[in-house]
Amino acid sequence: MNDLKRSLSEAASAAFQAAGLPPEFGRVTASDRPDLADFQCNGALAAAKSAKRNPREIATQVVEILKADPRLSSVEIAGAGFINLRVSDEALSVRAREIAADARTGAQVLDAPRRVLIDYAGPNVAKPMHVGHLRASIIGESIKRLYRFRGDEVLGDAHFGDWGFQMGLLISAILDEDAAIRALVEKLPDTAAGADPADEAALNAELDTRIALADLDRIYPAASLRQKEDAAFKERARKATAELQNGRYGYRVLWSHFVKVSRVALEREFHALGVDFDLWKGESDVNDLIEPMVGQLEAKGLLVEDQGARIVRVAREDDKQDVPPLLVVSSEGSAMYGTTDLATILDRRQSFDPHLILYCVDQRQALHFETVFRAAYLAGYADEGSLEHIGFGTMNGTDGKPFKTRAGGVLKLHDLIEMAREKARERLREAGLGAELSEEQFEDTAHKVGVAALKFADLQNFRGTSYVFDLDRFTSFEGKTGPYLLYQSVRIKSVLRKAAEAGATAGEIVIGEQAERDLAMLLDAFEGALQEAYDKKAPNFVAEHAYRLAQSFSKFYAACPIMSADTDALRASRLALAETTLRQLELALDLLGVEAPERM
Ligand code: ARG
Repeated sequence: MNDLKRSLSEAASAAFQAAGLPPEFGRVTASDRPDLADFQCNGALAAAKSAKRNPREIATQVVEILKADPRLSSVEIAGAGFINLRVSDEALSVRAREIAADARTGAQVLDAPRRVLIDYAGPNVAKPMHVGHLRASIIGESIKRLYRFRGDEVLGDAHFGDWGFQMGLLISAILDEDAAIRALVEKLPDTAAGADPADEAALNAELDTRIALADLDRIYPAASLRQKEDAAFKERARKATAELQNGRYGYRVLWSHFVKVSRVALEREFHALGVDFDLWKGESDVNDLIEPMVGQLEAKGLLVEDQGARIVRVAREDDKQDVPPLLVVSSEGSAMYGTTDLATILDRRQSFDPHLILYCVDQRQALHFETVFRAAYLAGYADEGSLEHIGFGTMNGTDGKPFKTRAGGVLKLHDLIEMAREKARERLREAGLGAELSEEQFEDTAHKVGVAALKFADLQNFRGTSYVFDLDRFTSFEGKTGPYLLYQSVRIKSVLRKAAEAGATAGEIVIGEQAERDLAMLLDAFEGALQEAYDKKAPNFVAEHAYRLAQSFSKFYAACPIMSADTDALRASRLALAETTLRQLELALDLLGVEAPERM
């Protein structure tokens, strides 16, 4: 059950072959001029170049063959040798019926599914999430859903930042400011063995009552500032990081508490954003793999001493920019950001053996990943090309810099969602929507509209592009926005509900009117959009499809009456088109991670 683009490509390829030319030239694409044709094939021009023949002559030969295809109502040559194809109403009707009968509305399943791990979001203990984390979450979630929908076996991992220098900073700051906690920490021995459970319980009880999320939010930024001016404090924090990693027991207890407090809050926020991880692993999870890994790197001759630290050199002669070495063990003996990333590759290979790992992380970390990937390939921890950084630009403020709150601070995900929800409430009221909803339904709808606004505004751009945060525009019910899409889907639901109440049922699709044609062509283009989004790891192609589909439905609904259609058969056909459009729109929205309400 191929989409038209693919089945026409096959026909055109066969025609090129019959004309004595390589079949690759038969690739068919959607027409640039939908007023003239549905599809086009430009292969005659390229074929002419390589065969040193006249393009129009080749095109004429191919057209003669294609004219016999009963699915095509017209096959014409345009310009220097472009071939324009138009699909007959009958063939389009057959295709539309196929899509209507398919639970996936024409989306295919991969022939060769792979195991893919997607590393995204990457929040950190205690450090507030910034817009980079927001984009990573939104884009990563969408890529995860898309890959899974296409048939890959996919795991999404949050890769929690819980093992770096910020942990040492937090530990040192708390020990400095709180004598009671310090005394309890010092009572614990260096290792778990021999620790008195009562002492540990006392420390935990103290932490539970005294150190909540708000405290971490206060302590971390202050400590982070302090280490910039206070060299002795910085030194202590670095030592504390190394001691934590080496297993100092009192520090491990503190650390567990910080992790627990941060994680509970983060999970709640991600849940509100419709982002769910299969794995919530952290940098700390690979701690035990680091020592043997360092041994292996050493045995392979990859590890080099450098000013007391140990590094892996990954630069190549033909590098156009400086690629720094991977810092594996710092001079204090700590594992670094890249160390845990390298060990995590090993861990993933042992547990899941992925064909591909995608890192959905801010573009600004491109060099970090280049370094880690090279080290992994050198060490034989991954197959060349199986690690890919899916970078993205920033969400900026009107000043063109990464978005900050009005007070100049990093934006908290929680506050962002609340802002979007508040704006959504305003927009709904302004549009006269939601008046019949209960308060609870109204709140649910406002939440969905707010989240859809944020996500769609992000996903409609190619991920590499930066964009400006503009909540007014994002939440509008008009234009290319999440709320517009939700509104259209709610509208189709209401059309279908009314039809069902009147006892009307969907039936066989028969394409006649232009607006019906356009809608059916778009339904058919779903598979192509998914393919492109998948290949380029770029959900904007799905977003674009969803938007065009919603627009096309809107035109269809204006031009083609459903309940007052001239015949029962016509009404049934149009209902089937509406019902299929809704299903496909919902599938596309789901791939974007956007949830639509039942009513507005
Ligand atoms: N926690 C990191 C940060 O905030 C992002 C983690 C990305 N993933 C990774 N495997 N390094 O910058």
